[in-house]
Amino acid sequence: MSTETVAIVGAGAIGTALAHALSTASVPVVAVASRRREHAEALATAIPGAEPVSVREAGRAAAIVLLTVSDSAIEDACAALDAPPGVLVAHTSGSRDVTALEAATTAGADVGGIHPLAAVARRARGSDPSTPARADAFRGALFAIEGSEGVTARLSALAAGVGGHPFPIAAQDKPLYHLGASMLAASAAGLSQISWDELRRAGADATTASRGVSHLLRTVADNIERAALPGAALTGPVARGDAEGLRRQAVAARALSTETCALYRAHALHNIEVARGAGLITGETADGLLAALLDDETTRRRKGNP
Ligand SMILES: NC(=O)c1ccc[n+]([C@@H]2O[C@H](COP(=O)([O-])OP(=O)(O)OC[C@H]3O[C@@H](n4cnc5c(N)ncnc54)[C@H](OP(=O)(O)O)[C@@H]3O)[C@@H](O)[C@H]2O)c1
Repeated sequence: MSTETVAIVGAGAIGTALAHALSTASVPVVAVASRRREHAEALATAIPGAEPVSVREAGRAAAIVLLTVSDSAIEDACAALDAPPGVLVAHTSGSRDVTALEAATTAGADVGGIHPLAAVARRARGSDPSTPARADAFRGALFAIEGSEGVTARLSALAAGVGGHPFPIAAQDKPLYHLGASMLAASAAGLSQISWDELRRAGADATTASRGVSHLLRTVADNIERAALPGAALTGPVARGDAEGLRRQAVAARALSTETCALYRAHALHNIEVARGAGLITGETADGLLAALLDDETTRRRKGNP
């Protein structure tokens, strides 16, 4: 486990979660900087041994400086650091590579990327930053690590310290790696809203609906962990090759907004491909499912629906 000192620059969702997780794992988080001084102060107060500092000071405050700022602010925050040779400056973006840290490279610092494959929601402003609710947010998470051999070793030790699993990633692989991860995390939350809305419409109160949706997601995650590949964990009429069931769903989807209905159809089409690829259905069954969807579309168009 890493015993190197860490400075956090960016007291947002990931910065807050990492500061708590590292500190809980006895990795010394000694400094916190942020765009707004009050955010740095609030987080530093919650982390034992941490001091609020300016972004410039953060560069000399620790052996490892983690830039947990928004993707578009990485260059500016990096240029504002006063990082001497030997210090490791790393950002937590999944889509940007280390070329975003050119200012630190020019100054002689080491540079790297450490992207936790975990979804950390923003804290509601005004919530208590001392609540270590995120201390275990990274237990079991993969961490995509970019950098030289030495940098990878140092960042991997940080990832392992918070219970994560480091894996090396090349710069050119990051955009699509991140697209896949981001689509999954954002779609799961976005699609959950549809499920939640329909539970509410069916009479569930908000707490019951949230509990129902999150349990459903956990069962999906469990199935994926046990399956040979994620597509093999598919459930529902497509996975069962049930064309009639799919047709009934498509009819029900017409009651949704135009955008949500289009999303349903795009998902159904995609899932037919996934089910076939995972060997859940034959090509002939896939054709039957496609025909059921097309029939419904033809009926909708005939009735003048978009
Ligand atoms: N959230 C996730 O699930 C997740 C997962 C993996 C990786 N990441 C990556 O982690 C990074 C941060 O994401 P996030 O979700 O934590 O974003 P966020 O909640 O919006 O936090 C961004 C933080 O950056 C600070 N900041 C912005 N510009 C700055 C500057 N010029 N100098 C200093 N601080 C600055 C902001 O400071 P103030 O609060 O003071 O305004 C804010 O605290 C991004 O690269 C993102 O891709 C996020």
